Amino acid sequence: MKVSQGKSNAKIILMGEHSVVYGKSAISLPFFAAEVTAKVEEVSEGVEIISDYFSGPLDEAPSILNGVKELIDTVLKRLDMKSSGLKITLDSKIPAQRGFGSSAAVSVALSKALYNLVGQTLEPTALRELVEKAEKIHHENPSGLDGDTIVSQQAIYFIKNKNTSNIKINMDLDLIVGDTGNPASTKTAVQTVYNNENRDSEIEKLGQLSQAVFLNIKNQDSILMGKNMTQAHQSLKALGVSSDELDEFVDVAIESGALGAKLSGGGLGGCMIALSEKNKSQLIVDALKKQGADTIWILDLKEI
Ligand code: MEV
Repeated sequence: MKVSQGKSNAKIILMGEHSVVYGKSAISLPFFAAEVTAKVEEVSEGVEIISDYFSGPLDEAPSILNGVKELIDTVLKRLDMKSSGLKITLDSKIPAQRGFGSSAAVSVALSKALYNLVGQTLEPTALRELVEKAEKIHHENPSGLDGDTIVSQQAIYFIKNKNTSNIKINMDLDLIVGDTGNPASTKTAVQTVYNNENRDSEIEKLGQLSQAVFLNIKNQDSILMGKNMTQAHQSLKALGVSSDELDEFVDVAIESGALGAKLSGGGLGGCMIALSEKNKSQLIVDALKKQGADTIWILDLKEI
């Protein structure tokens, strides 16, 4: 009986969440501190799934796993495999619904594990296509940013349906990620933006800020980059996708010396990111802990 594995990392959006849905540019980073592993084992009968949400026969899984079900179905058909005799274990260390792209990461790990089981190569284009199919079930009209960042495993500059280019950040700075611990639905956040009366003007601003940060990275201008990030937070707040905790985290990070801070991902909960010079990071981390941050990670932007 064969056994195989697939692994995936998470992602964190630097700039452009929400406005990316409306065709504006975004910058997103791979996040290797949290991983998901999928294991597939050949067994005598049935398709069983073991996950945090549900363990048992796949066809009895709750609707939250509909994307996973669709993905398994599609991959088995593509690989000409029968849908029985499989035990699938999903082990995700990526907190769900916090802006880390956990659903896209599960899709990547699972697709790789299934392809590995039959010894077939999975090209990045095919992998992206599979992930997007499953993402459409999680939230109707995904931009594709999550899937593309996770598949590429590099920082990307992204425009929906137009451009995915790998970029290098290479700045002597830290990006501090503070998790509020509050899960939030991307689908609800996307609808909140859609219904906001100031949508068009705020999306325009967010698009310009994202472009500005792209140039700040090119010019290694950390001061302006921080300011542009904080302005983006104000626009996201005006669009109704911030939360009291996220606003508090942004304020505390800036008061403790961050160059700028904003929410990251869909918002309404999830994570805040703060741009920090290396010698300020510990102060910011301590202040966020005091403010009640659930988990804090530090990404070295020199390495990305
Ligand atoms: C979610 O990680 C990012 C959003 O921009 C939605 C999307 O890009 O599909 C909020």
